[in-house]
Amino acid sequence: MQNEFDILVIGSLNMDLVVTTPRFPKPGETLRGTGFQHHCGGKGANQAYAAATLGAKVAMMGRVGADSFGESLRHNLETRGVDTALTLNAPGVPTGTALITVDEEGENQIIIVPGANAQLTARCLSDREANAIQVAKLILLQLEIPSETVEKAIQQAQESAGELILDPAPATKLPPAWLSKIDYLTPNLSELSLLTGRDLNPNAPLKEIALAARILCEQGARCIIVKLGPRGALRVDERDSEIYPAREVTSLDSTAAGDSFNAAFAVSLSKGLPIEQAIPFAVHAATLSVTKSGAQSSMPSLSEVEAFIAKQT
Ligand code: ATP
Ligand code: RIB
Repeated sequence: MQNEFDILVIGSLNMDLVVTTPRFPKPGETLRGTGFQHHCGGKGANQAYAAATLGAKVAMMGRVGADSFGESLRHNLETRGVDTALTLNAPGVPTGTALITVDEEGENQIIIVPGANAQLTARCLSDREANAIQVAKLILLQLEIPSETVEKAIQQAQESAGELILDPAPATKLPPAWLSKIDYLTPNLSELSLLTGRDLNPNAPLKEIALAARILCEQGARCIIVKLGPRGALRVDERDSEIYPAREVTSLDSTAAGDSFNAAFAVSLSKGLPIEQAIPFAVHAATLSVTKSGAQSSMPSLSEVEAFIAKQT
C-alpha cells in the first residue's frame, strides 16, 4: 500500500440511534422523549471522520454489515476523503449500533451492540493491514473492537515508526503489558478511575487526578492525557503534569467529544506540532464539538477551530 494517508484509525463504526429526553429515565420508568435521529458514529469512525474534517489524510480499518447502515457509514467517511479500502463488509452480521439517550444538559447514556465490529478479529490484521500500520504516522485505537485485535495492532505498531494513541473507551481494564507500548493514553475521568482503582469524581482536585494517572506511568505508560469535560485536559507523565483548560460554552450534546479530542490531537502530532500545542488544539476542537448535536455531524473543520482559537486570544 502506498503511504497515501498519515493517520490510520483501527476501530468501530456504529449507527447511532439517538433519543433526546428532558432527563434520563429511572429503572422501570417510561418517559416521553422529545426527538429521535440517527447519525453516523462509532468511536473509530468518529475519530477518522473528525481527523479528515480537520484536513488530515486518513484511512479507516474496520468492519460493517452488508446493510444500509454499513453503506451510510462508509459513504459518510468517503465524503470527507477517508480511505475506506480497509473498511470491509462482515458477512451475515448487522452493522454495529449505539442506542444513545441525550438529556437537556447535553449528557448522554449509551448502549452499544457491536455487530460487525466484533468481526474485526486479530486474523483480519494480515499483510495489507500490517503494511498500513507500518506506513502510518499516527495510529488511533479505541476499545470497541475485540481486545485481541487491539493487542495485535499494538504489537504491529511497535515495529513501526508511527506513534500510537489509545483511547481506553469504553472503560475496560487494560493488560498491564500494553502500557509501555502506547505513546499516548487518553482516558476520561471515569476510565482513569477504572484503570487505577481510584475513586475520582468530576470535581476531583487536579493533584488527585495526576496522582492517579501517575500509577499508570509507574506501570510503564509514557504520557497520559486525561479528558476532563468542561475542565479541559490534564497531561501527566512521570515528571510533571499540566492542565489545558477548556473555554466555557453551552453544551448541546457531548457525544463524541472524546473522539473529537483524540482526532484533533492526532492531526496536530501528524503535522509535527509539539504536545504543548497539540493538546490545546484538541481541547478547543472538542469544545466546539459539544456545541453541535450528533457524533460525526458535530466535528469542526480546521477553519472553525482556528477561528475559535483566534476569538479566544
Ligand atoms: P465522550 O465519551 O462524550 O465522547 P469523553 O468523556 O471521552 O467524551 P470529555 O472529557 O467529556 O471526553 O470531553 C473531551 C473534551 O471535550 C474535553 O477535554 C474538553 O476539551 C471538551 N469538552 C467536553 N465537554 C465540554 C464542555 N461542557 N465544555 C467545554 N469543553 C468540553
Ligand atoms: O464516542 C461516541 C461514540 O460512542 C458514539 O458515536 C457511539 O457510536 C459510541 O460508540
